[in-house]
Amino acid sequence: MTAVDALGGEHSTAAATTLELVYFSSRSGNTHRFVERLDRPAHRIPIEQDEELASQGGPFVLICPTYADGEGKGAVPKQVIRFLNVSANREALVGVIATGNRNFGATFALAGRIVADKCKVPLLYSLELAGTDTDIARTREGLAKLERELCSTAI
Ligand SMILES: Cc1cc2nc3c(=O)[nH]c(=O)nc-3n(C[C@H](O)[C@H](O)[C@H](O)COP(=O)(O)O)c2cc1C
Repeated sequence: MTAVDALGGEHSTAAATTLELVYFSSRSGNTHRFVERLDRPAHRIPIEQDEELASQGGPFVLICPTYADGEGKGAVPKQVIRFLNVSANREALVGVIATGNRNFGATFALAGRIVADKCKVPLLYSLELAGTDTDIARTREGLAKLERELCSTAI
């Protein structure tokens, strides 16, 4: 699809939006292994809390593990909170995917629900550990659909 802008130049609107991924993964690396299999541009939030934090330019989906204590506190990793405290990052966030472990019962993937609620974005999907082949397929499909929707609203 092409469009003519105010300067008379033709440009492709379909190519205007690439949905990127931003994720946190601790040293156990489950979320990292999941993201690697999605074959999309992805940026990892640094594990070290004092490491420089790049801000996110374009629209992105956050993929976030849960690290709650026994009472459900501290579910969202501090590094993710620091990243979302940057207003430009919050503005570019379009949705969240949560990772966790069902052994934790009621707090399974709780971080995703918290981020979705606080940032007013949809919780797109929740999965365990590094995900299954089904999780990969469903996530790829969902991200492609979301990207098409973003393209159709891009100017
Ligand atoms: C101390 C600790 C607390 C955790 N708490 C939760 C929890 O409340 N809910 C949950 O779903 N998973 C919980 N998990 C599991 C992690 O979210 C899960 O292992 C995830 O895949 C870790 O991702 P990462 O390896 O990319 O950091 C916890 C893990 C640890 C080590």
